[in-house]
Amino acid sequence: MTQSTTRYLADYQTPDFHIDTVNLCFNLDDTKTRVVNEMAIEKVSDQSNITLNGEHLSLLSIKVNGTTLTKDDYQLSDTELVFALTQQHNTVVIETQIDPLNNTALEGLFKSGDAFCTQCEAEGFRRITYYLDRPDVMATFTTKVIAAKESFPQLLSNGNKIDSGDLENGQHFVTWQDPFPKPCYLFALVAGDFDLLTDSFTTLEGRNVALEIFVDKGNLSKAHHAMTSLKKSMKWDEEVFGLAYDLDIYMIVAVDFFNMGAMENKGLNVFNSKYVLADEATATDTDYFNIEAVIAHEYFHNWTGNRVTCRDWFQLSLKEGLTVFRDQQFSADMHSAAVTRIQNVRVLRAHQFAEDASPMAHPIRPEKVMEMNNFYTLTVYEKGSEVIRMMYTLLGKENFRKGIDLYFERFDGMAVTCDDFVNAMADASNKDLSIFKRWYSQSGTPLLLVNESFDPTTGEYALTVEQKNMPTAQQQEKHALHIPIKVELLAGGVSQEHLLELTEAKQTWHFSMFDEKPVTAFLGDFSAPVKVNFDQSDEELITVMQNAQNTFCQWDAGQKLFMRYIERLIDTPDYILPNELIAAFEVMLTSNDLDDALKAEQLTLPSFGEIADNQQIIDPEKIIHALKTLKLFLANGLSNVLSRCYQACQQTNTRTPQTRALASACLSYLVLDTNNEQLVQNHYDNGQNMTENLAALTAAINQSLENTDALMKDFEDKWLDTTLVMDKWFSLQGMQQGDDIFANLEALTKRDDFSLNNPNRARSLIGSFSMNNPKHFHCATGRGYEFLTTQLIALNTINPQVAARLITPLLAFKQYEEKRKAMMQSQLVKLSNLDNLSKDLTEKINAALG
Ligand code: TRP
Ligand code: ZN
Repeated sequence: MTQSTTRYLADYQTPDFHIDTVNLCFNLDDTKTRVVNEMAIEKVSDQSNITLNGEHLSLLSIKVNGTTLTKDDYQLSDTELVFALTQQHNTVVIETQIDPLNNTALEGLFKSGDAFCTQCEAEGFRRITYYLDRPDVMATFTTKVIAAKESFPQLLSNGNKIDSGDLENGQHFVTWQDPFPKPCYLFALVAGDFDLLTDSFTTLEGRNVALEIFVDKGNLSKAHHAMTSLKKSMKWDEEVFGLAYDLDIYMIVAVDFFNMGAMENKGLNVFNSKYVLADEATATDTDYFNIEAVIAHEYFHNWTGNRVTCRDWFQLSLKEGLTVFRDQQFSADMHSAAVTRIQNVRVLRAHQFAEDASPMAHPIRPEKVMEMNNFYTLTVYEKGSEVIRMMYTLLGKENFRKGIDLYFERFDGMAVTCDDFVNAMADASNKDLSIFKRWYSQSGTPLLLVNESFDPTTGEYALTVEQKNMPTAQQQEKHALHIPIKVELLAGGVSQEHLLELTEAKQTWHFSMFDEKPVTAFLGDFSAPVKVNFDQSDEELITVMQNAQNTFCQWDAGQKLFMRYIERLIDTPDYILPNELIAAFEVMLTSNDLDDALKAEQLTLPSFGEIADNQQIIDPEKIIHALKTLKLFLANGLSNVLSRCYQACQQTNTRTPQTRALASACLSYLVLDTNNEQLVQNHYDNGQNMTENLAALTAAINQSLENTDALMKDFEDKWLDTTLVMDKWFSLQGMQQGDDIFANLEALTKRDDFSLNNPNRARSLIGSFSMNNPKHFHCATGRGYEFLTTQLIALNTINPQVAARLITPLLAFKQYEEKRKAMMQSQLVKLSNLDNLSKDLTEKINAALG
């Protein structure tokens, strides 16, 4: 694979042709689906050749303005079809044949179980027909779907149903028309025999919208939470952003085979069934939360993504960063704002910061791309959301809303850029965002160095903040960013809040009239995606933990204490931990002001990933030892309080997600005591739902308790036929701590119910092993790396997108100590020598090795 396949943002050119209307007709068949594509194409430049994208297609015929082209009239390659269009207005009819059954990449038209479905974002439509597959080409689609009536009673596509009827030989058809012009990445088609949950919603404009959720037969009772979530999302978007739904029908289809979470196709979302199906017995509280968030996310895309879309794929964060911000705000409004924020920040610190320090580091608006699927990243999504959040913080709620209103006023129905969005924000608020825009082009996590001084004679407190923007893999030169910093100064029992705007390399702020040196709660609500180096004493951090108004800062102070002692233990394995730590967490656990979910967050130690991201050279064994030592120290010192907390949570006959979160967190400590088998067994046996069952299994697995195998067997027997629950079982297996793990992994991959063709199943075992089992993934023999590589070699041909996600933990090999570095590198080299290495893996491996 050569560099020539790399595309650059700087090379963007407006299209030479427009496509106004598309008429599609699908004759569905497992291995020989025929697609007739009739396009009205308009020439808008003096270019007379048109180049259409197309991959994995069999071309049957092309007709231009009524004349069938012969082989001499066009040029055809594996990726393109070129022919002349001499008139201004043209009608082009192209017929292709495709093979959905053998489409294991799950892009374009494929089969999930017995159903046909599509996935076109980012560039999957070109696997259905020849087309100008770019988001700034927007057309109105009419889609006729023909299939066998008995096997496929439901035939769906975007927009409104305009026609249907029976045909010869047991076939039938349905025709759909989408009145909104859209890019082809939002096209969708589904055909199958589903159970259907229906409901309706009346919009603020008085439009009655039919809501339909399609699930596999037998799963209807698991679709209610998704439906409730959809209605909550529709209402919230009207109330908070004034945005109402615009078609008469909104459909969601849940499928088992899906590369990502869900897809916002206009009027016809396709979802990974994991983000739709839930009932008490099979879904955890986290599953319930995530389903609501993903349903909201896809629904919110109807405005931020579909009504206003991206000019080109480099602008992906225009829709994703903004839509993630919207779904996070929604979740915060539906639940605890503080807990929601804490969980968002955990993901950012453990995963996005690592990505931003990795060989694949890129700005939220990437500048070069080989395979677009590689850029649906934590950076584009989560950091992208942080960038929107910073504008929200800088502008304030009212001005932010004015900016959003202006954005839709200017760009409804258009394909635009990130700059267009920021300009609307700046114009609506009169805020200068010119320096702020650098967040879109600069990669890497800024580091803030904070210094304070206090003059007791004048009562003046000064806070100096310096920003360090280190070079990243593909970007050496860095500039100062515009960084909003919320601070809270605590003194004499009162607290004052300030919003500081750092726009230069280094700035100092002065605050007066203090009788004593204030204690500063820095970066309230995590007001910017940065790392902070601020040398506060344990005592000061404990003051913040106990007295800050900002709940995020309370939690973060506890995390800083944990991180501080983990780092000491990494440097000095037998370091003696101070009892003040116990006292501080005892106060926290017995406080009446904190809700149980927050206590659970406070008790959760920084993850392996977050710790690793803060190490110069990663030595996995040292990190694991430090984490274990700290956890054991806390478990011993807090054992009485933890048991009392645990009992209190378990006793209530009205258990809630909050009490369950705290019970699970306590259990993870209590299990470190001896004689803990019984406690875990009871937690499992008395479990009233999946959250409790999983907490018990996780505790057993982490401690390799003697009853682990029996518990896992019981769980397996109970859930053997429930795919989504068995995914949980496979991910628990990936986290086993015993030394027989490699033999077990080998056996697991050979089971009939394990298949790399199913992304959820592949991720649950391989992903959990390589991301959540550092002890064995990084084991000194290198077997963990070998196991992952073996799976990646198979996945490379089956599903490159999934392979490219699972390779992530190998890419950062340079950050590891010598021995592991060499072993990881040799696995990457092995992969790079494969004959058929996909673009997806090529781009990442080249970046890592290069
Ligand atoms: N646009 C989708 C979202 O943000 C994500 C997406 C992109 C996707 N490509 C995909 C989903 C491929 C599934 C498969 O929700
Ligand atoms: Zn999205």
